[in-house]
Amino acid sequence: MHIRPRRLRTGTSIRSMATEHTLGASNLIAPVFIVEGSNVQEEIPSMPNYFRYSLDLAVEEAKTLFTLGVPAVLLFIKADDALKDNKGTEAVNPDGLMQRSIRAIKAAAPELVVMTDVALDPYSSFGHDGIVENGQVVNDPTVQVLAQMAVSHAAAGADFVAPSDMMDGRVAAIREALEVSGFPNTGIMSYSAKYASCFYGPFRDALDSAPGFGDKKTYQMNPANIREAIRETLLDVEEGADIVMVKPGVPYLDVVRAVREHVDIPVAAYHVSGEYAMIKAAAARGWLNEEQAVMETMLSFRRAGADLIATYFCKDIIRMLQSVR
Ligand code: PBG
Repeated sequence: MHIRPRRLRTGTSIRSMATEHTLGASNLIAPVFIVEGSNVQEEIPSMPNYFRYSLDLAVEEAKTLFTLGVPAVLLFIKADDALKDNKGTEAVNPDGLMQRSIRAIKAAAPELVVMTDVALDPYSSFGHDGIVENGQVVNDPTVQVLAQMAVSHAAAGADFVAPSDMMDGRVAAIREALEVSGFPNTGIMSYSAKYASCFYGPFRDALDSAPGFGDKKTYQMNPANIREAIRETLLDVEEGADIVMVKPGVPYLDVVRAVREHVDIPVAAYHVSGEYAMIKAAAARGWLNEEQAVMETMLSFRRAGADLIATYFCKDIIRMLQSVR
């Protein structure tokens, strides 16, 4: 035998020299959940060690993340029930919690890339990502509100808006609205292949945003499909997306790979709340080594072709990256 692949695996140093993919802080996007109030830090029951913060503490968290080297946060807010309606009124409020959060975080950490969720579900009395008429989530009226919402985030200082709603034509409408409103430099990270997934369960607990009736299958994608993911993604690129995203993560790594091969712009993947919960639950029972499970999962995203990974493990990953070797 002349050919022995194990030669490249004989020790730590040669293994590091033969490493094909790496993970660094610059690959990470940290989701941040914000609630009204002050000095509030609430653990999300189905997301152990992950918290909703009031804005004062969210600002501190954002500064900490930036200091650790995480380049971007993705903001989500939990709206009070009294503010929810079927029109997205609060979503476009220039003094809403999201808009105030953007301003405060940009002021505290100007170099931190602030990305914002654009979808109506936290603001919807029906818990849907769009406006409901006769039991249907209606596309075009929803897109109009999403475009206004994106402009209000840009006006507050958001660097990127991240439409997560899966309405048709929303990237084009948002791009056009940003341009005509004087925000040509505000980017769009579009959730371009977002599936109707059970893995969002813990997130919906975090924001109290579960659909009040039915499910999201008329707008989020069928988990059986991959060609459709390419179609959706290419449409978003054509409409002006700067970054495209696949979501959830691990169950859809084949989609990440396929998308990577079809586009030239950065590809993000979202390691979603249910994926976080699974690792946490198994680790809590001693069934998995949490740190190893997290790092192996992150490398799998990189290997599949993701440039960016939105994950609730950002701070743990930074800690682990610092202690390697
Ligand atoms: C809202 C939104 C969801 C997530 C991100 N943005 C939930 C949903 O679509 O129901 C899920 C994130 C996660 O589970 O970590 N449109």
